[in-house]
Amino acid sequence: VTGRSGAGRLASKVIVVAGGGGGTGQATALRLGAEGAQVVVGDIDLAAAADVAARITAAGGSARPLAFDMGDPASTAALVKFAVDTFGRLDGLHNIAGNPAAHAGDLDLLSTGFETWEAQFRSHLFAYAQAAKAAIPLMLETGGGAIIMTSSAASRSAMTTRVAYQTAKAGVETLTRHIASTYGKRGIRCNAICYGMIMTPNALNLPQAVRDEALASIWSPRHGRPDDVAGLAALLLSDDGEWINGQVIDVNGGRLLGP
Ligand SMILES: NC(=O)c1ccc[n+]([C@@H]2O[C@H](COP(=O)([O-])OP(=O)(O)OC[C@H]3O[C@@H](n4cnc5c(N)ncnc54)[C@H](O)[C@@H]3O)[C@@H](O)[C@H]2O)c1
Repeated sequence: VTGRSGAGRLASKVIVVAGGGGGTGQATALRLGAEGAQVVVGDIDLAAAADVAARITAAGGSARPLAFDMGDPASTAALVKFAVDTFGRLDGLHNIAGNPAAHAGDLDLLSTGFETWEAQFRSHLFAYAQAAKAAIPLMLETGGGAIIMTSSAASRSAMTTRVAYQTAKAGVETLTRHIASTYGKRGIRCNAICYGMIMTPNALNLPQAVRDEALASIWSPRHGRPDDVAGLAALLLSDDGEWINGQVIDVNGGRLLGP
């Protein structure tokens, strides 16, 4: 018996949260720090990342912020490398950033222009692939590591809009299985957390009707909160998740069961 549970199960793990300044990324970075990880908080909003890192440090943890743009492959790779330069190793990567600007003009197939497809794929698929590509060789140097991708219920929904986003997120799930199967024998694990609607500050700006419809489509009595995904991320990045690989795990209040 190896008692791994409880606070400190991420002690000595160095983890990059790519998109840790706000929304679910913020809640996740704070949770990872509280469980003992040394956290690199990457975000396009450096002030937000710095604030999260400062909160982790103030609570007795260890964290450093860095600005990066998920639309820029070089800065995404630099974020991952920063972890090794700062903390000496890399054990975990959580691709969690979302780029609201990429959604502009993302409608049905006939109405959506190539530049919108490109923006969605660049932010919501290529950036995740780029970060993982940078992380895997560094993880292999120390015997492996854990990667988490962030997907959306949109990837498996019959949606009549946001064609590029839902296709990009379906690609994220396929990428997850590719990484798990290709590098699993060498100690790399890759899983996706697939969200239903989570009430981040951005989601709270959605029209009331959209929020009401989302609540009506799940079996939970309440909307999802950022902390609802943070605990699963901590588990998957810890040794408790050592035998979980290649999975897409839904956190959605029972949405796929359908009322
Ligand atoms: N919130 C939801 O209901 C929901 C549902 C399904 C899927 N998702 C997906 O989950 C992920 C996280 O969603 P969220 O709602 O927490 O996101 P969010 O919109 O709150 O943003 C998360 C972080 O990403 C950062 N960011 C934005 N553009 C960036 C860029 N170009 N480079 C680097 N960082 C950037 C933001 O500054 C923010 O701190 C996204 O991929 C999103 O598509 C969210």
